[in-house]
Amino acid sequence: MLTIALPKGRIANDTLNLFSQVFKEQFLFSDRKLILQTKNFTFLLVRNQDVPTYVHYGAADLGVVGLDVLEERRDIQIVRLLDLGIGKCKVVLGSECGKPINYLKPRIKIATKMINITQRFFSKQAIAVDVIQLYGSIELAPLVSLADGIVDIVETGTTMKQNNLQIDEVIMESSAHLIANVNSFFVQKQTILHLQDSFTKIMNENN
Ligand code: PRP
Repeated sequence: MLTIALPKGRIANDTLNLFSQVFKEQFLFSDRKLILQTKNFTFLLVRNQDVPTYVHYGAADLGVVGLDVLEERRDIQIVRLLDLGIGKCKVVLGSECGKPINYLKPRIKIATKMINITQRFFSKQAIAVDVIQLYGSIELAPLVSLADGIVDIVETGTTMKQNNLQIDEVIMESSAHLIANVNSFFVQKQTILHLQDSFTKIMNENN
């Protein structure tokens, strides 16, 4: 029996589709339910950013989570198993069109959900930065002078475009990865590696 934490939304559906293809049965959450129990698996629906926490503490043996979240949570110990090639997006530095970030200022202000990725990105370049943590609607920050720029996720690019923001730099590319709890990986290695193999085969067939 394996417990698997999935991030709510499209990635959960895409992952359940992969499971359906591998095990030739339908995996579907009922409306508003957060747990899906099947013969061999328990699936949990959690917030994207919470997936590493569930896996780290062993509440889930496996998890599916964006590489961006793993990079943000480097403090957490997990085993990275496989790039599932779904949930592709980019982490970018952006600013208001026609109002570029002024690097001559002694400190710049950057609004973001991803404070660690942001801090690391600017310290590598020895740029002094005040990181302002927000929990959503990041694109608003430069428009109301809360920040000089943002570090945020871009998927289609629509949100930035609609809010008159431009991409200055791509910090990293991300996609959903299958991860495992360190102890579960040790104890259930055969089962987990078999699952990893099955996923790889299905993904190759799909491409
Ligand atoms: C994410 C991200 C952007 C948006 C990008 O926000 O923070 O705002 O998606 O998608 P796009 O490039 O396809 O327009 P999310 O939907 O998670 O909402 P949030 O603002 O509440 O974080």
